[in-house]
Amino acid sequence: MLKFAKFSRLALTLGLCLAAIPALAQQTHSPKAVPSHAPQTKQDPWWKHAVIYEIYPRSFQDSNRDGVGDINGITSRLDYLHDLGIGAIWITPMYPSPLVDFGYDVADYTALDPLYGTLADFERLMAEAKKRNIRVIMDFVPNHTSDQHPWFKESRSSRTNPKRDWYIWRDGKGPGQPPNNWQSWFGHSAWQFDPTAGQYYYHHFYVEQPDLNWRNPEVRKAMYDAMRFWLNRGAAGFRLDAVSRLFEDPNLRDDPILPGKNAYGDPNIQHKYTDNLPEIHEVLREMRKVVDAYPGNPVLISEADEPNIKELTKMYGTHNDEVQLPMDFQIADVNKLSAPDFRKLLDEVENSPAHGQPHYFFSNHDQPRAWDRYGDGVHNDQIAKLMAALLLTPRTTPLMYYGEEIGMRTTPPTRKEDVQDPIGKIGWPEEKGRDGERTPMQWDTAKDAGFSAADHTWLPIPPSSAEYNSILSFYKRLFELRQSEPALQNMREGSYVSLDRDDPNVLAFLRKNPANGDSVLVVLNMSGEAHTVKFDLASLGIKGTSTKTLLAAPEPEQTSMPLEHFAIAPFGVFIGSVH
Ligand code: NOJ
Repeated sequence: MLKFAKFSRLALTLGLCLAAIPALAQQTHSPKAVPSHAPQTKQDPWWKHAVIYEIYPRSFQDSNRDGVGDINGITSRLDYLHDLGIGAIWITPMYPSPLVDFGYDVADYTALDPLYGTLADFERLMAEAKKRNIRVIMDFVPNHTSDQHPWFKESRSSRTNPKRDWYIWRDGKGPGQPPNNWQSWFGHSAWQFDPTAGQYYYHHFYVEQPDLNWRNPEVRKAMYDAMRFWLNRGAAGFRLDAVSRLFEDPNLRDDPILPGKNAYGDPNIQHKYTDNLPEIHEVLREMRKVVDAYPGNPVLISEADEPNIKELTKMYGTHNDEVQLPMDFQIADVNKLSAPDFRKLLDEVENSPAHGQPHYFFSNHDQPRAWDRYGDGVHNDQIAKLMAALLLTPRTTPLMYYGEEIGMRTTPPTRKEDVQDPIGKIGWPEEKGRDGERTPMQWDTAKDAGFSAADHTWLPIPPSSAEYNSILSFYKRLFELRQSEPALQNMREGSYVSLDRDDPNVLAFLRKNPANGDSVLVVLNMSGEAHTVKFDLASLGIKGTSTKTLLAAPEPEQTSMPLEHFAIAPFGVFIGSVH
């Protein structure tokens, strides 16, 4: 889950060129037509092949000139997503909410906030998305509600209210003393005293986000019914928010204190007793049963910042009966362009006994965009292409974040008074909050970058929106290759083969064609120097001595490269066919 507290935003270096809009096509060797021997994919669930695209609805497209994006805005941009090749969109919460955490504080799980539109608008979105074969994944927030949710209002009203036990209420240790040392992810104690009945409630996130008590069967039933509400309306599944935080130690043991302080000035702490308790797996199995009862293979995506491959693997379930796509935060947050680091993690996934479908991403609404995080401040556009290839060519279901395909940069507020995200207010100036990665989508060079016709947008349009780059055309070519090259599709497990495992600069791998047609060689130079490498692919059944360029940046002079003596430019990306 949230990584932003761990990554120093101060470390961001904003570089030169950037952002914006559909521009000139990058290189270019036209994709082959889909070969007739392409393996059949009928049995594979859609989520093994789709590229999923995260939409932060406040910032995608405003249709009613209020400066905030909305459902009709998303519908109006479906053609763009379809043309890009997106198979599913995950929309972050649009439920009624006081918006303390911009929708992650839900006040009603079975309605939409009028700010975003009506259920009729949603139905139209679903119908239009279906016409374009785009699935819609809802965000589901099971760990906590808003303090304005009627359930919590009832719960806090007295110690004997029937909903009292729907939340985590405890007595303090003494006057003014919370029950233990647990800390909120968003700073300071995780306990809030409520004078109404003289007890503390637990909130893993903001004070206004009380945690639900998942040990209570009534809570489970209510939440599963809420999931069914959206499945009945055609949702293709859920991204499950903060699922590793669902349970806390019933004995309220203090968390271990670690050296140092965090961005909020609190002692560092290991969230040992509030994170990843084994009970979460029972809930995930129950949620899986809820979605499995529906046709069309609805998917569960877990947002859980798993510390290692062992924990990540557990999210699939012992019998593959939990989450189909656990988000891989290990790979998302390598946070430096390092071939050995990426190779190690990719190899770990391949060698994991779970054999689940990997789910990689590099950007989302909680952490600085990959453009800044992996860019060196000078070659960011080129590095963005390299990261695009790293996302779209391994064996994974890729998850993109809106604007990634046009190289949108992180634009944090420069003054505390402009901050929207409360953690930016709590943690200023060290923690500036998440506004920087949530700025409006930059569609074109019109007013407000085509996002809105309002006089004022909820977050400003970054000045970089006026600049052009060729990142979008590179993404488009990658999407085309995913269609035309069977080896880049996910039909067989094990078709990712790591190459040159000791190279400190160049990450290379082979996507092996299961049908013995052309395989695809991917070479990514993660260093700022040119390198020459040698590939010996004979033991992998590759007889050819050269590789034919399918897509590369910068564009190489030859259309074919010798495997014995393969030269790659600084931060170069090469994707070629071999057989
Ligand atoms: C994770 C979400 O991605 C983040 O935006 C939110 O603040 C927390 N969960 C709390 O719901």
